[in-house]
Amino acid sequence: MTTSSRRYHITTFGCQMNKADSERMAGILEDMGFQWSEDPNEANVILYNTCTIRDNAEQKVYSYLGRQAKRKHEEPDLTLVVAGCVAQQEGEALLRRVPELDLVMGPQHANRLQDLLEQVFSGNQVVATEAVHIFEDITKPRRDSKVTAWVNVIYGCNERCTYCVVPGVRGVEQSRTPEAIRAEIEELGRQGYKEITLLGQNIDAYGRDLPGVTPEGRHQHTLTDLLYYVHDVPSIERIRFATSHPRYFTERLIKACAELPKVCEHFHIPFQSGDNEVLKAMSRGYTQEKYRRIIDTIRSYMPDASISADAIVGFPGETESQFENTLKLVDEIGFDLLNTAAYSPRPGTPAALWENQLSEEVKSDRLQRLNHLVNTKAAERSQRYLGRIEEVLVEDQNSKDPSQVMGRTRGNRLTFFPGDINELKGQVVQAKITEVRAFSLTGQPVVPAICA
Ligand code: SAH
Ligand code: SF4
Ligand code: F3S
Repeated sequence: MTTSSRRYHITTFGCQMNKADSERMAGILEDMGFQWSEDPNEANVILYNTCTIRDNAEQKVYSYLGRQAKRKHEEPDLTLVVAGCVAQQEGEALLRRVPELDLVMGPQHANRLQDLLEQVFSGNQVVATEAVHIFEDITKPRRDSKVTAWVNVIYGCNERCTYCVVPGVRGVEQSRTPEAIRAEIEELGRQGYKEITLLGQNIDAYGRDLPGVTPEGRHQHTLTDLLYYVHDVPSIERIRFATSHPRYFTERLIKACAELPKVCEHFHIPFQSGDNEVLKAMSRGYTQEKYRRIIDTIRSYMPDASISADAIVGFPGETESQFENTLKLVDEIGFDLLNTAAYSPRPGTPAALWENQLSEEVKSDRLQRLNHLVNTKAAERSQRYLGRIEEVLVEDQNSKDPSQVMGRTRGNRLTFFPGDINELKGQVVQAKITEVRAFSLTGQPVVPAICA
């Protein structure tokens, strides 16, 4: 390969975890001398970082892959990599399905990309899906944003929600040490980043696998302790975290969020279903009453906190009246954002084998009804912003209107206002909200009064 021909392309599917992994893998490729190519057809190394949470996510990967596999017949030097959760789930089977593949690597192997590619370049077809201890990444990620950054704090998931592939593909929980996390955030601060999001599939599990207990008998390192520990990192102005699990969510954490000024008043706490029987069948480990109590407690400390969640409709055996309990919860809580999905049976998960599966018609009918309610409620929730002055961290230009910039409020609402991105990128601007839509806002920057 000549230097000019060393170009790579990554397409990322799935969740923030995958996006964070892709940024680290891009960093590794750039370290190896590869240059980013937006167009996969001009790249010599193409990496698909895949998601298998629902069947449609998985199918998308196969259609992308089919196109590049064909191209490989004319360009045998092309290197094709499948990383992420489909890779982990399918392993060797993926090579049988797409023999043109060079490398199949599970998410736990992301930091090993260089080593794995070197094996490929010396002529091997490689599958890396065994469970491993995740080593600290020593390369620098190539981050998509210069303003906001993801910071992994815990990998994997030890829950056993009966519908979910994540524990199978991401492995057991592995927490990074508070010191390693803080060092990464300090580096981000030095590079001028303003906002960080701490990431974990079940972030409330942070620290359980690290040594140390307090005199009161709780783990020494919890998410709450971590928030206090990283809060004073210079130049970082906002801290977020996701995803929270209602089973382990504590009042101590809520208090910390209320107390720590940099921690944004935004909570992503999936409830999945508003019906206790369904929650039990899902093995979620809480009731809808407990979920409501958590939200009430959050709102008692932070009345205006924004709340988002995920929900599944059409879980095996879900009756019409059980589904209506989900509608009721959504109606009563008033989410700022809700990611909804029809249940999709996944290989290797218990619920996929049950006989009480619902028809596609019932599932898509319920999904439509839920989405309709979500849009109505989100539009209602948005109204509270009208006329208010919101603190917006500017991230980018509005891609649909270059005379505007886009950023987010502390509550994570996408907000647009007129301005020059070259001047405003990374700035926190006070904006008066003049227009509200269900999931985004438009405003005018407020010019601060000049003090004498
Ligand atoms: N760790 C997070 C969610 C991870 S997966 C949590 O515990 O909530 C992201 C979302 O995908 C889930 O919240 C769930 O709503 C959805 N999901 C997961 N498995 C699914 C399946 N088999 N069918 C439909 N939706 C699913
Ligand atoms: Fe999946 Fe449940 Fe783990 Fe979330 S907590 S990743 S839904 S198994
Ligand atoms: Fe998908 Fe894997 Fe994330 S299955 S949702 S990319 S953990």
